Amino acid sequence: MNRDGGWGRNHAEPQRAKKGNRINAISELDLRIEKGEFLALLGPSGSGKTTLLNLLGCLDRPTSGRVFVDAMDVSEKSENELSAIRARKIGFVFQSFNLMPMYSAAENVELPMMTTRVPRAQRRQRAAKLLGRVGLSGRMQHRPDELSAGEQQRVAIARALANNPPIILADEPTGNLDTRTGGEIIGILRKLNRESGTTIVMVTHDERMARYATRRLYLKDGCIVRAIKRAAKPSSAFSSP
Ligand SMILES: Nc1ncnc2c1ncn2[C@@H]1O[C@H](COP(=O)(O)OP(=O)(O)OP(=O)(O)O)[C@@H](O)[C@H]1O
Ligand SMILES: [Mg+2]
Repeated sequence: MNRDGGWGRNHAEPQRAKKGNRINAISELDLRIEKGEFLALLGPSGSGKTTLLNLLGCLDRPTSGRVFVDAMDVSEKSENELSAIRARKIGFVFQSFNLMPMYSAAENVELPMMTTRVPRAQRRQRAAKLLGRVGLSGRMQHRPDELSAGEQQRVAIARALANNPPIILADEPTGNLDTRTGGEIIGILRKLNRESGTTIVMVTHDERMARYATRRLYLKDGCIVRAIKRAAKPSSAFSSP
């Protein structure tokens, strides 16, 4: 698995301590995600979607099994090694945006580049370019509370792209947005996937958003119970399947 540069995980089983009991949040899962895929993870609340995303993002470790990122076994890496892998290879987008409230949009985008020690002038230039790419050139100096929810999520996407990661992991990125704004955010992710070949794994409850994905996986009780590969590309997120 993943010997040729693919990315995925193999039979990983993180356990969660819940009210004194151990539960398998994910079990018997064997998943390979190809470079350039746009994968949607669906399933009821508590089915393990966030747990799976956190495993893929090296934020959580499996209690058994292995996780590979770009052919690299990350299961046994140290915390420092994992944070270096996260910084360079993975961009995260969250439902509640998670922007730093005291910083401007541009500064929020610059932050991950500080971790990777990008020089200041270059950071500024790249933040401006990325904010332009998500349609926010005119909002660079605004703080998050001066931006709409959709604009905040655009900043979060620009921030996720700061170190040009090959992988974006998004946990319900449209969960706090109205349908139209959510559609715009998915449009940005889709464009990124198509034009830059960025691998995207997105958790969503919304079938209309999931339809943009090249593959949909449905989780239940920590297992994949259904997989659907997209045959034809929909013309819009809101067209019929
Ligand atoms: N920190 C934690 N401690 C203990 N149990 C947890 C923890 N986080 C999640 N769980 C449990 O692990 C299982 C999977 O949770 P997970 O958050 O992955 O579900 P989810 O599919 O993302 O749900 P949602 O759609 O509500 O976000 C659930 O049974 C949940 O209660
Ligand atoms: Mg979740």
